[in-house]
Amino acid sequence: SNRAATLVVLGASGDLTRRLLLPGIGSLLAQEPDREVRVIGADRDERPDGDFDAEVRAALTEGGAGDEAVERVAAASSYLRTDATDSASLQRLLEAAAAPAPGTDAAEHDGERRVVLYFALPPAVTAKVCSALLDVDLPAELHLAMEKPFGEDEAGARALNALVARLVPEDQVHRVDHFLGMSTVLDIIALRFANRMFQAVWTGEHVESIEIAYDEALALEGRAGYYDHAGALRDMIQSHLLQVMALVTMEPPASITDRDLRDAKAAALRATRLWGGDATTASRRARYTAGTIETADASGERSERSVPSYVDEDGVDPARGTETLAQVTLEVANSRWAGVPITLRSGKALGVTQKHVVLTFADVRHLPSGLTGPDPKDRLVIGLNPDTMELRVTTNASHDPLGLAQSVMRADMRQASLRPYGEVLGGILDGNGMLTVRGDAAEECWRICDEVLAAWAADEVPMEEYPAGSDVPEAWGAALR
Ligand code: BG6
Repeated sequence: SNRAATLVVLGASGDLTRRLLLPGIGSLLAQEPDREVRVIGADRDERPDGDFDAEVRAALTEGGAGDEAVERVAAASSYLRTDATDSASLQRLLEAAAAPAPGTDAAEHDGERRVVLYFALPPAVTAKVCSALLDVDLPAELHLAMEKPFGEDEAGARALNALVARLVPEDQVHRVDHFLGMSTVLDIIALRFANRMFQAVWTGEHVESIEIAYDEALALEGRAGYYDHAGALRDMIQSHLLQVMALVTMEPPASITDRDLRDAKAAALRATRLWGGDATTASRRARYTAGTIETADASGERSERSVPSYVDEDGVDPARGTETLAQVTLEVANSRWAGVPITLRSGKALGVTQKHVVLTFADVRHLPSGLTGPDPKDRLVIGLNPDTMELRVTTNASHDPLGLAQSVMRADMRQASLRPYGEVLGGILDGNGMLTVRGDAAEECWRICDEVLAAWAADEVPMEEYPAGSDVPEAWGAALR
């Protein structure tokens, strides 16, 4: 239900809060200017009066919120210096969150505000905060929102789930994955379940392979402290791309509600295993060497940027052997998908930035003789960010009525839409977990990746190299080139 909510952000002085969370709220306010939300920032540092409010104002504006909404929300927001690993400090913070906003009367609804405690913190700190919360009197309706990564492996995710379960019921826990708020990712639901023509062919009978890729031109962007411990597999595949895969492969839910959707996704993830059951053949890893990345901005203006070798980047420890490009091939071993390879890939500092879901359809059972092949593969390409969709179908060649060619039907679906964080936060503030990850699903995603990470740690899969600005290596077999 849509009710007034207080968002308490742990890690409020961090990069994520300023760059993503607050602008996300801003985009939410652009769509719903009257939404009642109050932000309380909490972190370890002392901040001068008005400092956090100014940051809230700027970030909400950046997110697209109108002046009136910005003023209203900023005026009700505040910052509280907090040691979130200390129970007494957390108790004070949560009491402040439940109290009426400064400058307002104790309005009658204020007593029943939903409080969302947002952990913009690394998993080890998140676990400490949860332990400290065991000794705190919690507000009547407390929701917990936790940033990725949720845990650092399957065992860690299990332990964190068990701890969180001692605090609030599972339907009040939201493991955040902003890809679930991307409009093209959400479009997968309508595309699959509201179109007879796709519903019928969305099976291993007709689909030959699936690729889910998120290749970025971005390099390290000063995030070595985080990234060098994560790498491409943990950063992108363990979280975002497995969530997308779950939506692409799940059985049709009877309703698009948090319970049905989360059930359907979890079932698909439970059925997922490494292709061939062997990490050494089902995975690849690589890291970039020095090179030049050419990018184009929105207006098409091209620019070049030199990037040092990953191991020479500031803050990188070469001994850690972190990959910047990862690929894993999976099988959803159930009657819909068995035998269909599903490849997930993501990397940094690439020259060709494919961000998409590609369904490649099987050949027709019989190509009438007389038609001269080769018969191009029919494909559905769902572009992620920017939002596009392409259906590549086989048609007659223009100059040869019996020859075959490919025609492309394309839709550009880029409309004014919520930022992914805005979409996800809107649900959380409403207490709805539809666009967040359930505990069992988070564990499954780690189970799938842990096997690969173990093979990599044992050096059973070679570390390849690619020059920054180059394409994904040819041998990796990308669906589109
Ligand atoms: C983040 C990763 O979760 O997602 C980043 O940590 C990545 O490394 C980003 O660049 C990609 O998402 P978006 O929405 O910024 O394209």
